[in-house]
Amino acid sequence: MQKRKLGNSGLEVSAIGFGCMGMSWSYGPPKDKPEMIQLLHAAVERGVTFFDTAEVYGPLVNEELVGEGLAPFRGEVIIATKFGWEANPNDGGKWNALNSRPEHIKEVAEASLRRLRVDALDLFYQHRVDLNVPIEDVAGAVKDLIQEGKVKHFGLSEAAAKTIRRAHAVQPVTALQSEYSLFFRQPEQEIIPTLEELGIGFVPFSPLGKGFLTGKINAETKFDSTDFRNIIPRFTEENRKTNLALVDLLTKFGEQKKATPAQIALAWLLAKKPWIVPIPGTTKLDRLDENLGAINVELTPEDIEAIESASSGIKLEGARYPEFHQSLVNR
Ligand SMILES: NC(=O)c1ccc[n+]([C@@H]2O[C@H](COP(=O)([O-])OP(=O)(O)OC[C@H]3O[C@@H](n4cnc5c(N)ncnc54)[C@H](OP(=O)(O)O)[C@@H]3O)[C@@H](O)[C@H]2O)c1
Repeated sequence: MQKRKLGNSGLEVSAIGFGCMGMSWSYGPPKDKPEMIQLLHAAVERGVTFFDTAEVYGPLVNEELVGEGLAPFRGEVIIATKFGWEANPNDGGKWNALNSRPEHIKEVAEASLRRLRVDALDLFYQHRVDLNVPIEDVAGAVKDLIQEGKVKHFGLSEAAAKTIRRAHAVQPVTALQSEYSLFFRQPEQEIIPTLEELGIGFVPFSPLGKGFLTGKINAETKFDSTDFRNIIPRFTEENRKTNLALVDLLTKFGEQKKATPAQIALAWLLAKKPWIVPIPGTTKLDRLDENLGAINVELTPEDIEAIESASSGIKLEGARYPEFHQSLVNR
């Protein structure tokens, strides 16, 4: 497996990482734990060294699963996790409140260390920018944790360019994790040039457009009642019908390259910058193999140009998040 460095930090990880969220939440009920542990082991055997989780996934149980599954490989793999959400007592204990107060960040770090069964958190992202806490205070709290040896690298997720700059001035940011794929190219406007200038790595989440870009979802697909995609505007039946034009394009392009649409979607991200490391998520071994196969799909600058000029003619419909979640990004 090829490796990549996240910006100037020196943090080296497999060119494709593994998003573990779907094993415990977002896309239907939690999956069978022993099976997911086997899948984590299979990923390590295939050379994946970069795993993504968060306190809020589950909540808490995804970190426990990842901690247990990767315990045999301690020191050989990089585990990224995130702080910043908490249970909301005014909303039945749902984890939909933000809290990035420095003392809370430090408590979460201790708990994540225990659940992940590690001595230091390799990469600790703020999950969403908390407007009640100046970003300098957040960066300062993580800086303290780094000085204490409890955290190795600092990251942000869905932060605006100006916030990234302010945080980076206090504690260098190793990686930004935000949504980026052919389904959502907004980071190209301001975020990617800022990351390039500051030497920060980019970890695109939902690199397969939450499964849409794989060609396995169509307008008739019914999601489990607990699946988050039921409330995402771009996944309404009507919008899926329109947005499938992008999947058709990837499928046709894939036929020329002997690759699947998922592989073209990932290969496109890999070709954009050498410091981009996508983290597709799956709960199935054959799909893990398919996704990792994207490493071998070479896209030339002409291929990239062809994909982008064809896709720019497609008008995608529907926001990538429901209103509440949309209000928490890019700030
Ligand atoms: N920072 C943030 O705010 C944030 C937000 C969202 C996600 N993330 C992270 O990013 C990771 C990846 O994002 P994501 O899970 O939202 O989206 P994704 O990787 O774009 O897509 C995952 C979905 O695609 C399906 N899938 C994966 N590979 C496939 C293939 N080859 N063929 C067909 N279907 C396939 C998966 O289903 P199966 O399991 O059935 O294969 C799952 O439903 C997450 O696991 C999480 O760690 C972070």
